[in-house]
Amino acid sequence: MKLLREAGLEVTVWTEKRALSKQELIDHCIGKDALLSVSSRLDAAFLNACRHLKVIALHSVGYDNVDIEEATKLKIPVGNTPGVLSAATADTAFLLMLATSRKAFYMHKQIQQGKWGFFEPTANLGIELYGKTLGVYGLGKIGTEMARRCKGAYHMDIIYHNRHHNEEAEKELGAVKVSFDELVKNSDVLTVHTALTPKTRGVFDYHIFSRMKPEAVFINTARGAIHNEEDLKRALEEGLIWGAGLDVTNPEPMHPDNPLLDMPNVSILPHIGSATVQTRDAMAVLAAKNIIAGLKGQRLPNIVNPEVYEN
Ligand code: DGY
Repeated sequence: MKLLREAGLEVTVWTEKRALSKQELIDHCIGKDALLSVSSRLDAAFLNACRHLKVIALHSVGYDNVDIEEATKLKIPVGNTPGVLSAATADTAFLLMLATSRKAFYMHKQIQQGKWGFFEPTANLGIELYGKTLGVYGLGKIGTEMARRCKGAYHMDIIYHNRHHNEEAEKELGAVKVSFDELVKNSDVLTVHTALTPKTRGVFDYHIFSRMKPEAVFINTARGAIHNEEDLKRALEEGLIWGAGLDVTNPEPMHPDNPLLDMPNVSILPHIGSATVQTRDAMAVLAAKNIIAGLKGQRLPNIVNPEVYEN
C-alpha cells in the first residue's frame, strides 16, 4: 500500500472478510486501471468485462485461477510473485512431512478429547525419515528448498520428476531425475511442487497411490486438484500408503466433516504455505512493483504472459 501510494496511485481496497462474487469484482474494477488480486477467480467473462485493465498483479506465484490465454488475447499483462515464497512453502511441506510421520495433529486432538491414557510402548508409533528417499514432483524453486531441508535434516536421497533437468539441484543435492513411474515406486516421501495445469490435474489418483510404497508419505503444498481427494482417502483407508500431509485441498475450504480430518496419519492445513509475515510482505512488494510498472507502461518485473509484449 505504501509503495502504491508513494507512486501517486489512488487505491481502493476490498475490506470485507469474504470473497467477492464475480459481479462485485467486475463492479469494483469499473473506472480502475489496475487490479491487485489476492485469490479471485479471473475467468474469460471477468477479463472481457474488465478489458480496460492495464495490469493485473496476483498476490501469488500460482496463476491457475486466471485465464491467462484470454488475458493474453486481450493484451492484459498478468504478474505474479515467484521466488519470495519458496522457503516458507517448503517449510510448510517439511512441517507436514514431519507431522504426518509422527501423527502429530491426530495426537494433539487425542489429548483434547481426554484420550492420553496410559503408556503403551507400541502405541502411537510413527515412522522415521533418516536416510529415506524424497521424491519431488516438480523440482523448481520450492521443490529445491524442500529437498535442501530433507537432505540437511535427514540425509535423504533426492529423486525428482521434471520435464527438464535441474542441473543446479543435481550438483548441490545429488538429485537424480527419474521417470514418473520410478518416482511413484521409489519415494518414501513424495512431495508435490508443480503448477496445476491440464496435465497435472488429478495426476495422483487411486491407480498411482496403489503403486506407491505402503510406508510412503504423500505431501501436497501445491494445488489440491493435483490429487484426487476421494482416491487419496481410499488409498489411506486401504493402507496403500502410510499417510498424507496437505496444505491444499479440493475444494478449498475443506468441509469440516471431511473424513480425512479424522485420520491418524493425515495432517491438513488451510493453504498457509506462504503465510509468514516476511513472505507475505515480500509478495505484496512484488505485486505492488508489478502494478507500478504496468501503469507506467513498462514490462512487469514478474510477468506470467510475456507474449503480451509481442507485436
Ligand atoms: C501461491 O502463491 O500460489 C500460493 O499457493 C497462494 O495461493
